[in-house]
Amino acid sequence: MSALPGSAEGTAVTGLDSSPVEPAPADLPPLTERTRAEAREIIARYPQPRSALLPMLHLVQSYQGYVSPEGVALCAEELGLTKAEVGAVATFYTMYKRRPTGRHLVSVCTNTLCAVLGGQRIFDALGRDLGVHHDETAADGSVTLEHAECLAACDYAPVVTVDYEFYDQQDVDSARALVAALRRGEKPHPTRGAPLTDFRGISRQLAGFDQYGGEAARQAAVDAPGEIGPTLAGLRLAAERGESAPPMPGRPPADEAEPAGTEPAETVAPSGRTGETPEAEAADARVAAADNPAERAGAAQTHPDEGAEYGQPRGRQRAGTQTPPTRNPGASGQGTSVEKET
Ligand code: FES
Repeated sequence: MSALPGSAEGTAVTGLDSSPVEPAPADLPPLTERTRAEAREIIARYPQPRSALLPMLHLVQSYQGYVSPEGVALCAEELGLTKAEVGAVATFYTMYKRRPTGRHLVSVCTNTLCAVLGGQRIFDALGRDLGVHHDETAADGSVTLEHAECLAACDYAPVVTVDYEFYDQQDVDSARALVAALRRGEKPHPTRGAPLTDFRGISRQLAGFDQYGGEAARQAAVDAPGEIGPTLAGLRLAAERGESAPPMPGRPPADEAEPAGTEPAETVAPSGRTGETPEAEAADARVAAADNPAERAGAAQTHPDEGAEYGQPRGRQRAGTQTPPTRNPGASGQGTSVEKET
């Protein structure tokens, strides 16, 4: 027996597990005409209105901190769906919360790799500090804690995210310090990526809206370049051991494609180019500093200009096709790219 968010029975059991939908707290901010107008703005982005449902649910969370029964009703009305249809989507994805979320959402990866490196110990310690279990919020409303399955950053394990921003290579002490800072109202800078906001702020971004008040604030929130050291560790080890991957089907082995003695001049790109952005300049430096072909290739693959055959003279960019390279980001989202030759 189950009911969905938006059903009359506010505390009924929902969806895929036995999490109850809690009744709306008394201080829950109401959804307004502005919310409805923004929902319609989202709908206008799509050829089919119902395609707008996912960002609309994030919009609801940006106002109320969870997918409330009121939010389900608003989405259903605007999209011409039943509340059951909206609820079926909202209860399928773990990013849609069924009870009010704290100011920050702290997710601890307890999947295999993070777990063996201490992820479960981190989760247990934070749970004790906060006095909560999975998907529960500290009494002061500061933090909601949750287990997370693989956060797609296994090379940085153990991984914690706060409002979906990454805090890599944590241990019990660093994670406890991070959460303590959050509870004091601080926003420690993530290990990489954009500055930390809060759960409602990131929900607004996920709905496709700017949460910043002006251009200066927007510029300040531009993603910072990430550290890719852990991502390149495997490449570095392979180079040290003289190991290499088998050639891609249909492509000659690297040592046939690049005659001995010519490779450094064609792949190293300290070309004097200053880079259009700080990220490109930093990536230039990483490529130039690489001390072996494998590391250089890895750095080049994460370069912002990677799609432009970075490191090769522009005149030697792939001929005969304008097809962009197929990107296969791998588990970390920063992995290798595979070019499809035609
Ligand atoms: S197992 Fe934790 S990020 Fe993949």
